[in-house]
Amino acid sequence: MDKQTTNVNELEAAKQLNIMNELKVRFDQEVEKTGKQKTYHIETFGCQMNSRDSEKISGILKQIGYVETDTEDADFVLYNTCTVRENANNRVYGRLGYLGKLKKSHPGMIIALCGCMMQEATVVEKIKTSYRFVDIIFGTHNIFKLAELLQTRLDSDRTVIDLWKNTEFIVENLPNDRKYSFKAGVNIMFGCNNFCSYCIVPYVRGRERSRNPQDILEEIKAMADDGVVEIMLLGQNVNSYGKNLETPMSFAGLLNEIGKIDKIERIRFMTSHPKDLSDELIEVMKDNDKICRHLHLPLQSGSTRVLQIMNRRYTKESYLALVDRIRSAIPDISLTTDIIVGFPGETEEDFAETMDVVKKVGFDSAFTFIYSKRTGTPAATMENQVEETVAMERFDRLLKEIQSGSAKAAGRDEHTVQKVLVEEINSQNPELLTGRLSNNLLVHFPGDKSLIGKIVDVDLQESKGFYYMGSLVK
Ligand code: SAH
Ligand code: SF4
Ligand code: F3S
Repeated sequence: MDKQTTNVNELEAAKQLNIMNELKVRFDQEVEKTGKQKTYHIETFGCQMNSRDSEKISGILKQIGYVETDTEDADFVLYNTCTVRENANNRVYGRLGYLGKLKKSHPGMIIALCGCMMQEATVVEKIKTSYRFVDIIFGTHNIFKLAELLQTRLDSDRTVIDLWKNTEFIVENLPNDRKYSFKAGVNIMFGCNNFCSYCIVPYVRGRERSRNPQDILEEIKAMADDGVVEIMLLGQNVNSYGKNLETPMSFAGLLNEIGKIDKIERIRFMTSHPKDLSDELIEVMKDNDKICRHLHLPLQSGSTRVLQIMNRRYTKESYLALVDRIRSAIPDISLTTDIIVGFPGETEEDFAETMDVVKKVGFDSAFTFIYSKRTGTPAATMENQVEETVAMERFDRLLKEIQSGSAKAAGRDEHTVQKVLVEEINSQNPELLTGRLSNNLLVHFPGDKSLIGKIVDVDLQESKGFYYMGSLVK
């Protein structure tokens, strides 16, 4: 990013902080009068990008003086939406109907919608006509403006809509509120340039923009000083990090720099596009044991023919060869993936290729999706869309294959002692703690809650498939 853009970003951050202070004064006065704190509630749909965005939104709202509540009966309710598949949209519409009714019995309630769905013109039209009680609509590019939009809404009686098609802005240094004290997500890039033919993300998240390494490192250092030991680097395609920077830097280079921050003990990242996963990255992962033994490597399809129409830019063979290179360098790595079934034109032979890759790789786990038509993407207008019943039947077969693969993979580390980051008290049994292994699997073991946020040694006594039961090694 050039100097000029940097200055614009700093000015914008200062402006927004100013508005937050103005609103805080106003809210404090109201609270004094009514004796009631103003509450907010955020519902987050979709991926980790959205979760991270919600933390930023939460930071802004807290700065203004709102306090968080876990019910939707709040003074400010926000849905951070996802549109990657049709069912993500339907869930939002369903919930909105309920929220509209709730608003009638809650004077002064403000309802805001943001996130990926709002970047679609047809969605916004539908909300304007059928859900007129919505107060504020904004998108994925202007979250940093929330305080300003809220101020505008409070000073007028109209719906405030602010949607940007794209942006050059990356506004740094605004407040944000982390969900966990000991682990945190860090955006390293925004947007996506890959245009996989089924995917709406590039249209709703804009072009790929990498953050400056200095900004990322400073943010992580500050988090580390604040008690964070594990970070998750976020981007739609982290392997292409840094390509558009003034001084280009590779993702592997960035990982090396982050690895030097003392108090950071674990580094995770998501998502890796197979086409850009470099040998340099494999080397860095192999040599740096702060980098977790887990790679999420979306396959999407095992058929080279389908992959080409999906615009994924790798083949079945190159994917398998990549898996081999990764496994021979890092034998204890856990591999997970995303797969779509029923992509337009997918034949039984194509599907057999997907099953074949799944068998050969033996993924530790996988997210499987039935293809969902997204208006505006090239695949939506392709001929020979696959019948739903056919897709469902393939989906079931795929799921069985995945399950048998993960059953085989599970238990690999049984009877070994592993480092575990303790995350919480077990939700079912308060005598137990729940923690995460480097390879992302969970382990439950007896222990005291004072260990939450610490990395401890645990003996993995028994594998239960998707998790272990263990005991603390003193
Ligand atoms: N950037 C990541 C994925 C982001 S979306 C990557 O490239 O791997 C998460 C997953 O949703 C994708 O990996 C894909 O499997 C699935 N997905 C995306 N668009 C979809 C669609 N139209 N129908 C079904 N699944 C889809
Ligand atoms: Fe979508 Fe492909 Fe970009 Fe992932 S890489 S977000 S699947 S377009
Ligand atoms: Fe959904 Fe947007 Fe993420 S569409 S998957 S929330 S980038």
